[in-house]
Amino acid sequence: MADLVRDTLENYSAASNLMHNEKIREMMASGQTIYHFGFGQSPFPIMNKAADRLAKHASESAYLPVAGIEALRVAIRNFHNKYDSISFSADDVIVGPGSKELIFLLMNIFQGDILVISPSWTSYKPQVMLSGHKANVVPTSMEDEWKIRPEKFTQYLKDNNLSGTKLLIMNNPDNPTGTLYTQKELSDLSEVFKREKVIVLSDEIYGRLTFDDSFVSMAKVYPEGTILCSGMSKWASMGGWRVGYHVYPEKLSALKNAVRSAASHTYTTVAAPIQFAVAEVLNDLDTCEAYMRHTCRIMAAAAQYCHKELSEVGVSSVKPKGGFYIFPNFEILRAKLKARGIERCEDMVKSLFDETSVSVMAGGPAFLRPETELTIRLCYVNFDGAKALAASERIGLESSLPENFVQSQCSQLYDGIQVLKQWAKKTLE
Ligand SMILES: Cc1ncc(COP(=O)(O)O)c(C=O)c1O
Repeated sequence: MADLVRDTLENYSAASNLMHNEKIREMMASGQTIYHFGFGQSPFPIMNKAADRLAKHASESAYLPVAGIEALRVAIRNFHNKYDSISFSADDVIVGPGSKELIFLLMNIFQGDILVISPSWTSYKPQVMLSGHKANVVPTSMEDEWKIRPEKFTQYLKDNNLSGTKLLIMNNPDNPTGTLYTQKELSDLSEVFKREKVIVLSDEIYGRLTFDDSFVSMAKVYPEGTILCSGMSKWASMGGWRVGYHVYPEKLSALKNAVRSAASHTYTTVAAPIQFAVAEVLNDLDTCEAYMRHTCRIMAAAAQYCHKELSEVGVSSVKPKGGFYIFPNFEILRAKLKARGIERCEDMVKSLFDETSVSVMAGGPAFLRPETELTIRLCYVNFDGAKALAASERIGLESSLPENFVQSQCSQLYDGIQVLKQWAKKTLE
C-alpha cells in the first residue's frame, strides 16, 4: 500500500516531538520517574481571568470572519505596537488555529524557493515537503551561534543558484538553540535580503519570552519584506487554545489574500469563543505585562542553570537568550561512546534514557543536523510552573529571584539536570 502516499513524502513521519511526548506521557502515567526534557510546552498556568473570559464567551457559536474578528486583530496590532514598536493595520493580520497552520498555508500558496535553516524547528521541513516544495537547507554552526551570517548566506544562495524570489523561514528567538539575533545582525542581514529578493517569514513565537530587553522584531528592521508570525501558544501558555497569527506588509498583500483564501477553504476561522476571549486577554496589558515579567525571569533562571551545569562538565552550548530550549553538543563524550559502539546521536540519547530515565530529543535529521553530531535538544520546562509562578509572585517584581530559585521551586528540572550531568561525568571516566 506504500504507493498510496506521494513519492516526495517517502521519508515523512508524524511530528517526532509530539510522538515522543505521547510515549513519555504513557510511561509517566504508569508511575515511572522520567526526567522529561523532550517537549517544549509552557509549564505555566494561563493568566488570571483568561479562563473566566473564555467561559463568558462560550455561547458564541457563529462562524466568524476568516481572518479573525476585528477586535482581536486590533488587540494584536496594539500589542505589537507596544512591545515591538512597529505599526501596521488590523487589516494586515490573519488569525489562525495556531501559527503552524498559517506557516503551512503560506508555503502552499508561495511560488518560489523555500529556505529553512539548519538547525531548525522540527516542523518546518516536513511542512515544506507537504506543500510540494523542495526544502533548501541553509547551514549554520555553533561557532556562529547557529545564526545565518550575511557573507555565508550570500555565498549559499550563489552556490545553489537561488536567484529568484525566495521565502526564508527564520525563528527568533530560536527553537531548538535559544539563540537570539541582535538588532545589528538583523539589520546587516536585511541588506542581503533586499538585494537577494528574500522574503522572511519571521517566526517570533518566543519573542515575548526573552531573558533581557534586547529582542528586536525583524518586522521593525525589514518591514517591507517581513511576514511576522507569532501567537499565544508560548508566552501566554495557551498552546491548546490554538491561536496564532501572521502580519503581512502592504507590499506582500497578494500573499496575505492567497493565505486568507486558503484558510477559507481549510480551517474556515478560529473557534469563536477563543477569539473573543483572546481579544480581551490582549487588551488587559497590565496583566499580560506582569505575567511576562514573572515567567521570563523564571525561564531565564532555568536557562542559566542548565547552561552552567552542562558547561561545568565540558558540554558546550550557546547560552539561551530566550524560549524553552538549549542545544548542547556532547562531542566531548565521542571517544568514550564510540568505545561502547555508540556513534549516532539517536543511540546516545537512547542509551542516556535507558541508563538514567532522562529523556531528550536527539539533534540529528529531525533538526536538520547530521546523524552523528552529538547535539541534543533539551527543553528546560519540566517543572511545576504553577508553583514557580506563585513563588515569583510572592517575591514580587521589585526583588530579584534568589540564587537557589531553580533548586527550591523547579525541583524536577534541578534533579534531572544533575542526573544528566552525572551521566556525562560517568561516561567520561
Ligand atoms: C518555532 C515554533 N514555531 C511555531 C510553533 C507552533 O506554534 P502554534 O501553537 O502557534 O502552532 C512552535 C511550537 O512548538 C514552535 O516551536
